[in-house]
Amino acid sequence: MRIFKEKDYDAMSRRAASFIAAQLMLNPRSVLGLATGGTPVGTYKTLISMYQDGDVDFSGITTVNLDEYRGLSGNDVQSYRHFMDEQLFDHINIDKARTFIPDGMATDAEAECAAYDARIDALSGIDLQLLGIGGNGHIGFNEPADSFAAATHRVTLTRSTIDANARFFEDIADVPTEAYTMGIGSIFRARKILLLVSGDSKAQIIRDACTGPVTPALPASILQLHGDVTIIGDEASLHLLG
Ligand code: GLP
Repeated sequence: MRIFKEKDYDAMSRRAASFIAAQLMLNPRSVLGLATGGTPVGTYKTLISMYQDGDVDFSGITTVNLDEYRGLSGNDVQSYRHFMDEQLFDHINIDKARTFIPDGMATDAEAECAAYDARIDALSGIDLQLLGIGGNGHIGFNEPADSFAAATHRVTLTRSTIDANARFFEDIADVPTEAYTMGIGSIFRARKILLLVSGDSKAQIIRDACTGPVTPALPASILQLHGDVTIIGDEASLHLLG
């Protein structure tokens, strides 16, 4: 694991955007795994500025997102599809037909999950997967559990995740209780992983994920076993890691 400790959120976002831009320069046809949540917003903003300055080209890439709320259509302003359009895709030269996110409205959940994994396989896997980390150590929407779920699957969100994500909704009752998420296996097969972490509230969980036992009770801990993980965080989140 490589760890970059930046002084604050903006510095973290700049470093992360440069990391992603370098990947696209080395392979303009990269398959990027993308994440939602508050943490990557600054990275996406920086990538948009870099694109506007002519420093990065998204025309050849394909993206696959980690997850989507079950029951929300892509037109819903709370959907992760809407988030990605608004925070990144609508502002860069990406071919939207090559941006993939699970379909929250799929009628056959199992078929949707199988098709999502088949899509990733057909793309020959993910070159660089961007991740955040939930307050309970989840990655994507892989919540703490008794075992690691390998494939894309339907999950019931924990109370703490619903509470944490309620800030994006008018009413906590509007937060969906289920989601589709890439499995730990799908994430783990990415050739490179970039995890972003910000804020003091994540300091303990990121330390436990990096230095504690590898356990499905803390899904991000599996990253200790991956051969190419980079963590970029701010001082507030990484100060317990020394
Ligand atoms: C959500 C997303 C995760 C994200 C996590 C942390 O639950 N499904 O992919 O990493 O929230 O979000 P934030 O970055 O807002 O703390």
